[in-house]
Amino acid sequence: MQPIDALKTALEIELERVPLSQVRSAVHALSKRYHQQTDFGALSTEEVVAYGAFRMTATFHAIDAAFEQIKHRLGTEFRPRHLLDAGAGPGTSMWSALGHWPSLTQITLVEKEPAMIRLGKRLQSHSVHAPIQNAKWMALDLTRPLPDIDADLVVLSYVAGELSHEQRHPLAHRLWSQSPRVLLVVEPGTPWGFAIIREIRHGLIRQGARIVAPCPHDQACPMAEGDWCHFARRLSRSRLHRQAKSATLGYEDEKFSYVAVAPTLNASPVAIEGRILRRPLAGKGHVALSVCTTDGVVRKVLTRKDGPRYKTARHLRWGDPLP
Ligand SMILES: C[S@@+](CC[C@H](N)C(=O)[O-])C[C@H]1O[C@@H](n2cnc3c(N)ncnc32)[C@H](O)[C@@H]1O
Repeated sequence: MQPIDALKTALEIELERVPLSQVRSAVHALSKRYHQQTDFGALSTEEVVAYGAFRMTATFHAIDAAFEQIKHRLGTEFRPRHLLDAGAGPGTSMWSALGHWPSLTQITLVEKEPAMIRLGKRLQSHSVHAPIQNAKWMALDLTRPLPDIDADLVVLSYVAGELSHEQRHPLAHRLWSQSPRVLLVVEPGTPWGFAIIREIRHGLIRQGARIVAPCPHDQACPMAEGDWCHFARRLSRSRLHRQAKSATLGYEDEKFSYVAVAPTLNASPVAIEGRILRRPLAGKGHVALSVCTTDGVVRKVLTRKDGPRYKTARHLRWGDPLP
């Protein structure tokens, strides 16, 4: 059984503990918090369950998509053993990480909200995977001094935006300088979320970090003013999901921005020419791509005359590397 299947079952069991009407108002309160980006104080029990049931699956997919690209870039030489999730919420990233890297034997989850930790512990008890069952929680505030944790995969997902500008840079720096093999930072795929990612990217490059994904280079970000680099993952909504969100569509698109960095790219990363920044537009006999490259953001149009490159391009998706 894949870790995600156990997670889905565990979340359904959690949801049964709270009446739908309460979940509905908690979902509403949560989305208000995240849209206004102001009140990130303590969460109620219902809000924590609502987070698990209706946000965790979305953030899971964003992290999962980023992990996929890290794995593609670093190849089989990258076999992390210890995952550190900073601001883990209910422990989202471990459920994806273990699916990508069975080499993981140790998981450390740092989280300040006791209610999130309680939910995370209940969820982890449903896993059949030892590293998830034995994942260690640390009830700590990330803005205070942290103990040295010797992890080789570090995740800071949908957390930086909850910190002040003055707090997030020292934290990214600290997580980085504790010699992680790879640090992944994820934020919502909005202009605001992207601005946070871009600043962190810029700061870490100045400290010598190399970009693993999504950028195909370590140069200054070429995104034009008013535009933002983001990607999307489509996830289906269950009936309960639609009811709780008063939604009609059977799916939702989780938009996210991210950056993954490493101290070096010695592990002979897969060379990529660019990154697809928009959904490719396919017409009769041609495909138009918006691509981030070392020459900036460029539009590439491939036609039948391009032979195998055109054939490959027809299958490319938003967020994929341009081989
Ligand atoms: C939006 S949730 C993201 C949870 C998880 N990383 C994910 O992607 O699903 C943000 C989490 O960061 C935690 N957090 C925010 N500031 C923190 C801090 N200073 N120290 C520890 N945890 C923090 C919050 O309590 C919350 O659980």
